[in-house]
Amino acid sequence: MERITLEVDALRIPVLKGKDRDIMYIHGSGCDATLWEKQLEEVGGYAIDLPNHGQSCEAEIRDISDYAYFVAKAVKKLVGSAVIVGHSLGGAVAQKIYLEYPKVVKALALVGTGARLRVLPEILKLLKEKPEEAAKMVSKYAFSNESLADEFSRIFAERAKVLHLDLSLCDRFDLLDDYRNGKIKVDVPTLLIVGEKDALTPVKYSEFLKKHIPSAEMVVIPEAGHMVMLEKPDEFNKALKNFVERLQ
Ligand code: COA
Repeated sequence: MERITLEVDALRIPVLKGKDRDIMYIHGSGCDATLWEKQLEEVGGYAIDLPNHGQSCEAEIRDISDYAYFVAKAVKKLVGSAVIVGHSLGGAVAQKIYLEYPKVVKALALVGTGARLRVLPEILKLLKEKPEEAAKMVSKYAFSNESLADEFSRIFAERAKVLHLDLSLCDRFDLLDDYRNGKIKVDVPTLLIVGEKDALTPVKYSEFLKKHIPSAEMVVIPEAGHMVMLEKPDEFNKALKNFVERLQ
């Protein structure tokens, strides 16, 4: 896998590159581009390290739109426009990219995400006071698979500060009314993927999106939790490949 370093407004934005394909993957809270290794290998495309994550630059991020700005600029530089795949917080970023920079969006794949992403207040409080306990709790909710949950509990504990920032941004993200009153009309092909056992962004969040984006396709992956691309990579890749191959 290749690592490419882009410059956006003189800031360093790294992306991982898999097989040639116009896809940009956006990770969720406290994660980084490596989350998508199996997708880059088998489906292809680019995965970004959002600012303050992985090997990315440090930048002041005040809301989800700030992340959207960096990703949209990266897509423009790399391929002009792409299928934007976003997981959880990354799914909120993908929705903002569609609303604010529609020219860079060929299609959307919204994974384990929603139109509103309120966060348990207990998680936000614990992340400040007892990061290790908070990391354990987030991992327990995020995975249906115990060994992956243990591994991520350590990763999230090391990244408690950025995880707190990301979850605070999620907590303020809310497009529910804009979808309900028709202000948002998504007119690009859209795929919704969610794990059947997702405890952080339950299936009903994707059902809401499906209701308000009638043309969207929805795939519920059995026996998977929130981190569906890691827990069930084969099923996930099959759904994504099937979607992107029909776009050409
Ligand atoms: N799509 C569709 N419906 C949504 C939604 C979404 N993205 N987000 C919230 N809603 C609905 C809820 O189902 C609820 O409907 P109901 O009253 O019919 O049950 C209503 O909107 C209000 O929900 P919410 O905004 O979440 O407020 P709340 O005070 O009921 O609950 C939490 C707050 C934090 C307890 C709850 O959001 C939760 O359990 N979140 C999941 C855990 C978490 O931390 N996730 C992290 C996401 S990154």
